[in-house]
Amino acid sequence: MTGNAGKLPVVVLISGNGSNLQALIDAAADGAPFTIKAVISNRPGVHGLERASTAGIPTCIVDHTGFPDRDSFDAALAEKIETYNPRLVVLAGFMRILTNGFVNRFAGRMLNIHPSLLPAFQGLHTHRRALQAGVTEHGASVHFVTGELDGGPVIAQVRVAVREDDSESSLAARVLAREHELLPQVVAWYAQDKLALHDEQVWFDGTPLQAPIQC
Ligand code: GRF
Repeated sequence: MTGNAGKLPVVVLISGNGSNLQALIDAAADGAPFTIKAVISNRPGVHGLERASTAGIPTCIVDHTGFPDRDSFDAALAEKIETYNPRLVVLAGFMRILTNGFVNRFAGRMLNIHPSLLPAFQGLHTHRRALQAGVTEHGASVHFVTGELDGGPVIAQVRVAVREDDSESSLAARVLAREHELLPQVVAWYAQDKLALHDEQVWFDGTPLQAPIQC
């Protein structure tokens, strides 16, 4: 038996740097109630794959450019994920739009982290758009993944004050640092059976969540 017996098996999907993946790796090494069974990237050569290998986690690449369409890519990705038998799939900087078929296959057991206070700023370039909009607060959200891009029920958020002299990169850096606290916390809650999704409603500790938890 290893020290991971009884821990929630998780597969993490990435497309890039993998700093949120690193936060999960560090939390797991620190005794969090989940274990990362594999890291899958849709892009070869990204830094996140190196982070996983350094931590001794199996990695694999399902390169979307090798597939003729979204359906075939998503089918291959889903099959690969299922070889690791995860109870939770975490999208940590995974930059692909997923088909409804894929999303439904993992309904209620797939989380995404998005760098905005959802429902504000779904999609790309969230920090730039937050600055352009002149908001005083920005942040990040973890949500269950549904068929609507960045539109699934929000579980928890971190909030960051926007400074007058913020640039896109300074704001992004402050949000990212908080993402690294948020994501392991939400995955730990899921592992502790505190979180569930029923009919597009998040339940936390046996009660319907009225608003996202503020971390
Ligand atoms: C994060 O800002 C995450 O919220 C977004 O993509 C970025 C990924 O960063 N979905 P990293 O690869 O985890 O460093």
